[in-house]
Amino acid sequence: MPLKSSMKIVSLGVAAVLGAALLVGTQALAEQPVPAQQQMQKMLQMYKPELREKVMALSPETRQQLMQMLSIHTNRSNKATFRQVMQEVMSDYQAISVGIATDNGEMAADAARRLAGHRLPKGGLYPYFSLENINDTDMGILPAMNAAVEGTALKLAEAADRGDMAEAAGRLSEIMVACVGCHQKFRGQPGVSKMLLGAD
Ligand code: HEC
Repeated sequence: MPLKSSMKIVSLGVAAVLGAALLVGTQALAEQPVPAQQQMQKMLQMYKPELREKVMALSPETRQQLMQMLSIHTNRSNKATFRQVMQEVMSDYQAISVGIATDNGEMAADAARRLAGHRLPKGGLYPYFSLENINDTDMGILPAMNAAVEGTALKLAEAADRGDMAEAAGRLSEIMVACVGCHQKFRGQPGVSKMLLGAD
């Protein structure tokens, strides 16, 4: 093959590789997580004015803490409600307990990691709390709650990987303490009927 045309083929090849790299590069860029600030702005725009006002009235420290907490939840839904996400979490919790009870460390560890990486509901967390709870004291509790549930779930997964089911069982109960704590603070009684006398 004459040198010139083989050079042409080589340079064509280089161009193709470069082109592909560029394409992969831009795809990677597109997939990069949206900076937390931008994400929060997007969420705020989904809120009714009364909720937006409450969120804007939080101290910069509280907002920063919550933004950080939300930004590590990269598994986001634009459909699921908080209650639906809670039901998924409940189901993962049960799967962990089956894994532990049946000495199936892999099952327990997988379910615990799934629980830790749970979906973020549509609009984040703020819209699912009552407006009275959107204040610095109450919202300031959330990062600790988050650490208690998700941090402990990750520790549980490590214990289950090591086959230490006794530690995993202890961690499972620590997680439930955090579920209960958060429910006592933020959840009303589920499914209350307005059709009963004295309901309102
Ligand atoms: C950040 C606080 C918080 C944490 C932590 C939390 N929950 Fe919830 N959970 C709530 C709130 C608030 C609701 C009510 C949501 C609604 O009705 O919109 C709820 C609702 C639920 C529901 C739906 C049915 C019902 O009873 O209202 C289930 C199931 C549930 N949670 C399970 C769990 C489990 C299991 C854990 C721990 C692994 C957990 N939750 C941790 C705040 C929390």
